[in-house]
Amino acid sequence: MTQSAPSSQQRIRIFDTTLRDGEQSPGVALNHSQKLEIAHQLARLGVDVIEAGFPIASPGDLEGVSRIAREVRGPIITGLARAGRADIEAAARAVELAEKPRIHTFIATSPIHMAKKLNLEPDAVVERAVEAVRLARSFVDDVEFSAEDATRSDWGFLSRIFKAAVEAGATTINVPDTVGYTTPREMRELFAFLKGELPAHVILSAHCHDDLGLAVANSIAAAEGGARQIECTINGIGERAGNASLEELVMAFHTRRDAYPFDTGVRTRELYRASRMVSRLSGMPVQPNKAIVGDNAFAHESGIHQDGVIKARETYEIMNAELVGREAAVLVMGKHSGRAAFRKALTDLGYTVDEDRVKSLFARFKDLADRKGQIYADDLRALVDSRSDVP
Ligand code: KIV
Ligand code: ZN
Repeated sequence: MTQSAPSSQQRIRIFDTTLRDGEQSPGVALNHSQKLEIAHQLARLGVDVIEAGFPIASPGDLEGVSRIAREVRGPIITGLARAGRADIEAAARAVELAEKPRIHTFIATSPIHMAKKLNLEPDAVVERAVEAVRLARSFVDDVEFSAEDATRSDWGFLSRIFKAAVEAGATTINVPDTVGYTTPREMRELFAFLKGELPAHVILSAHCHDDLGLAVANSIAAAEGGARQIECTINGIGERAGNASLEELVMAFHTRRDAYPFDTGVRTRELYRASRMVSRLSGMPVQPNKAIVGDNAFAHESGIHQDGVIKARETYEIMNAELVGREAAVLVMGKHSGRAAFRKALTDLGYTVDEDRVKSLFARFKDLADRKGQIYADDLRALVDSRSDVP
């Protein structure tokens, strides 16, 4: 809108994991053709990386990733693999026909995960990570390594395992906030620390979960600390409370270019279509007040707001609905609506009504709104056409 971009924008790569972490949302299971449809939309959206699945999880998942790898062009296609031979070989098979294949391998690094889940000493975890990255590099040039539960891990240990992974050939280092525990300040500082520890060619990546509703804020803070890839999902779907929401991140960077010197390659006009598609195919509804893509995100209800928007959209809109691929903002007609919005609604429906009649119709409209709540176009037509206000 009115902000001008700072002179040097940093490119943030968007790594979409709707088809992997997003599909881990309880109750969601996508079939191959649904996954392919979403992957094509993600390519249209212009994401940099599509994490298409977890190939070892099932033969179906392997085939799903491999179909996307064969058919979707543009983004890097990756599959997730634990740090073990079988997982990595499955991921390698799944992405082998991709135009730009990546293998994403991970192991947990927090004390609780290493001791209770993996039952491994830290030295053994580093050894496994190195073997996994080396094996992945024997199949592809592009390898991402993640330290699961990184934000509850010791920073010195993170530095050690990341350096070892980079030496073994990892090109992207991902720092997941697996349980959505961190804060923006911690995240900014952790990334600034890691940036100082690792060679400049390494792409640092953030992967945030939303257990405290901080996933987007934490991802942005990571970018401020030095992250150049952010992992996120359409509509923020994912394990438990979900992942950072792609549309919120992209529009925060776009709308506040003055505050955030970051640029994503995303075509914002494709966002709404992607959101509707993921909601429809995953069976996960989008809450009405969800930023950017919720039904109410561009709807104005109160008379004061409606009057303001009629005079100048910028009074109550920080971005235009069209920019994210939606219809222009909606004035919701109800008991809070003012006369200006009522007059505009009649004009939009094709009526030419003089000011005296607007006044008498408006009184009836308020009565109706009190009884009925929301008023739709057909209610307004009935109100005008019945002429019940005309003596
Ligand atoms: O949340 C997480 O830790 C993950 C990793 C496997 C990247 O999804
Ligand atoms: Zn995750």
